Amino acid sequence: MQHRRIAHLSVPVVGMGTSRTLDVPKGSQPLADRITHAALDAGSTLIDSSPMYGRAEAVVGRALGERRKDALVATKVWTEDDEEAQHQIEASLAYFGGHVELFQVHNLVAWRTRLDQLESRREAGQVSLLGATHWKSAAFDELETVMRTGRLDAIQIPYNPLEREVEARILPLAEELGLGVLVMRPFGGGQLANRHLSASDLEPLAQFGISSWPAALLVWGLSDPRISCTIPATSKPDRAQTNAAAGDGPWLDPDGRRHIQRLATGSD
Ligand SMILES: NC(=O)c1ccc[n+]([C@@H]2O[C@H](COP(=O)([O-])OP(=O)(O)OC[C@H]3O[C@@H](n4cnc5c(N)ncnc54)[C@H](OP(=O)(O)O)[C@@H]3O)[C@@H](O)[C@H]2O)c1
Repeated sequence: MQHRRIAHLSVPVVGMGTSRTLDVPKGSQPLADRITHAALDAGSTLIDSSPMYGRAEAVVGRALGERRKDALVATKVWTEDDEEAQHQIEASLAYFGGHVELFQVHNLVAWRTRLDQLESRREAGQVSLLGATHWKSAAFDELETVMRTGRLDAIQIPYNPLEREVEARILPLAEELGLGVLVMRPFGGGQLANRHLSASDLEPLAQFGISSWPAALLVWGLSDPRISCTIPATSKPDRAQTNAAAGDGPWLDPDGRRHIQRLATGSD
């Protein structure tokens, strides 16, 4: 597993998301444990969550258990209400042993006040780095404004061969400002990973050690050096492990990336 940096943290290039996949009832905790441990064992030691994902933070907090120190936790605060935000932050800290490595403002909701609150937590030593996320390109003007405040260490944005809007201004700005970039939705929420491709479609990617379409999609994102970490979500332990293997590299050259874009979209 290769690593990149976000500020002073060394982060694995493949982490794991928890939206839907770890929002599971108590009876499914053993499966959640297996998914989480498979990811950690394979080197996917950054776990992304949010209070928006129902039970996921609590479930992944329990799954980490004694292994909390092996993981980097990226979670979020997501509410318009200032008091509720403090409750969410307290709850997250409690799930993750009193410290969160990367605390993000989810979908930029009330971002000025949320960053004030998170900065206080950083001063108190409860949070290492601050970030902001948005999933929609219509919000990228506002994301740029937040990035330019100098208050962030990292952003989280969608990036896959069907969602490339960040290439226009967000990725160049992140590079200029030295911000880490986490990739959400590397499989387009799942539908992109489910395409059936022939062995001959994938054959030109063999020189990069790629033999499956999901791996191709993860390596496609990671081959842009501005990307720090990709966070695919899965409800299957074996996929947590195979997704992690994409973090070994090697990375694609421009022709390899264009080939994957053609397979995904039918054009360059
Ligand atoms: N606004 C925000 O801040 C925001 C928005 C969206 C996402 N996120 C974060 O980004 C993470 C990832 O995004 P996402 O969960 O929306 O979408 P995603 O990671 O692009 O796709 C997840 C889907 O891909 C499938 N999958 C995973 N590994 C696979 C493999 N090897 N082969 C085939 N299918 C595979 C999973 O199905 P199985 O369960 O069947 O494996 C799951 O349904 C989220 O979990 C969340 O942490 C943040």
